[in-house]
Amino acid sequence: MVTSGGQQAIDLSIRTFVNPGDTILAEGPTYPGAVPSFTTYEARVEHIPLDGDGLRVDLVEEALARLAAEGRPPKLLYTIPNFHNPGGVTMSLERRERLIEIAHEHELLLVEDNPYGQIRFEGDPLPSLWELDDGAGWVIYLSTFSKILSPGLRVGWIAAPAAVLRKMNLGKQAQDLCTSTLSQRFIIEYLRRYDWRDYVAELNVIYRARRDALLRALEEEMPPEATWTRPGGGLFVWATLPSYLDTTHLLALASDKHEVAFVPGRGAFLDGRGGNSMRLNFSGVPEPMLTEGVRRLGVAVAEMTDLHRALGGLDGDAE
Ligand SMILES: Cc1ncc(COP(=O)(O)O)c(C=O)c1O
Repeated sequence: MVTSGGQQAIDLSIRTFVNPGDTILAEGPTYPGAVPSFTTYEARVEHIPLDGDGLRVDLVEEALARLAAEGRPPKLLYTIPNFHNPGGVTMSLERRERLIEIAHEHELLLVEDNPYGQIRFEGDPLPSLWELDDGAGWVIYLSTFSKILSPGLRVGWIAAPAAVLRKMNLGKQAQDLCTSTLSQRFIIEYLRRYDWRDYVAELNVIYRARRDALLRALEEEMPPEATWTRPGGGLFVWATLPSYLDTTHLLALASDKHEVAFVPGRGAFLDGRGGNSMRLNFSGVPEPMLTEGVRRLGVAVAEMTDLHRALGGLDGDAE
């Protein structure tokens, strides 16, 4: 089903399956743009942590056992396996295969959101959960033209079993009747005339250089206790600062005084976590601006650290 962007695809997935109070699983952090859909339909979100190999699939089983014992088995698991937004990590093949086994064993519906799979700078593509499910009907697959062509067109899509799509279609009619036919015609014409793969290959050369510039700048400017992901694709790095630094406060300082912005980590959790993390985007501006942006961010971090120290917050390690 063609949708008005990946955003509508997420919203329809949640709207179709979640009743108020239902539990769902999502990575922690999760896509901040999905949070309003989770809250609008009053889902109770249980976060499953990420590590360098993506979703901690071993903890999914634990969560399923606990939630079953509590009498609230989850309706679905929302996941972004490739170049996670905001986490920057990719789910390993082994975990994908295990997640599909778990989905089949426990009848767990997986909502696979894949806007970034083509934005790959290194390594070989991994099979999607949709492919691994092999038509068994436990995966709803979402994607979009936003990252491979243009976000302004607002065209995405959902692949799902026919019965699910029929239900979603009712919800879609209530939302917008149909996705802009003008945008759809533009895309058809574009695909007829050009090879979209060439365009994405060009984008990936540009984005890879920007990622490298951002990672280099972080090495130079961030305090030694800071950590961050090194994504092999996508648009984002997820950085974590020492626990005494709050990135929501840091954003106010960084944007007002130093004119540099990021997404504070708290927006990627529904349970108040993420306070010392932040999402950094590297696709939007050229390398010199990224270098300068991180330099300014480093100054803002140093200022907040000094303030914290002056207020006596760093007892013992003030030197
Ligand atoms: C994980 C994820 N899903 C969905 C979307 C929404 O994409 P669209 O612009 O197609 O609505 C985004 C956009 O940033 C995203 O990062």
